[in-house]
Amino acid sequence: MLSAQATPFRFLFAVVSGAVLVALCGGCSASKNDGMSGGDGGPEPVKWCEAYKIINCTCQQCHQMPPLNGAPIPLMTYADTQAPFPRATSTGKVWQEMQTVIGNRSMPYTGDKTVVPPVMPLMDDQQATMLAWLAQGATDLGGQSCPMTCDWSKGPPTGSQ
Ligand code: HEC
Repeated sequence: MLSAQATPFRFLFAVVSGAVLVALCGGCSASKNDGMSGGDGGPEPVKWCEAYKIINCTCQQCHQMPPLNGAPIPLMTYADTQAPFPRATSTGKVWQEMQTVIGNRSMPYTGDKTVVPPVMPLMDDQQATMLAWLAQGATDLGGQSCPMTCDWSKGPPTGSQ
């Protein structure tokens, strides 16, 4: 009697839990870390240098040291992302503010048409990489010595980044 009732229930449970697993794993295969899929199927953590490449080629058009085009802070080094913001005495950090302005796409700032070359919004995969790095707590995973992909002191970057 008991097993006759339990069997359809077990079947239902298997179907439901299978659907939950599929739903949970939707994010795994959608990981945008090119060529970096992990053995366990989970998304790979984002290294500082992957985030830095985007900061270097996009944000540093204005967030130089000293900052240009009205930007309030430099974003030249890992330490710059860990600095207190908005004041030296603040408990909040620059990287936490980056989470807001990258999440709502108010940065990179595209509203100043005098900035040359024109500033383009982050591509969706760049935004996703930055938000993943920030969600991890903006660590310096992989080390802080990153190549300078875009050297703004030599003029605007050209070619593929
Ligand atoms: C075209 C120049 C320019 C670019 C490119 C740019 N910013 Fe900004 N950024 C600004 C200006 C101007 C402000 C000041 C905005 C204000 O006070 O309303 C600012 C402010 C900020 C702030 C402080 C928060 C705030 O709203 O004042 C953060 C954090 C920031 N930018 C991050 C970034 C990041 C990250 C990128 C690259 C993804 C980026 N910015 C690209 C010009 C720029």
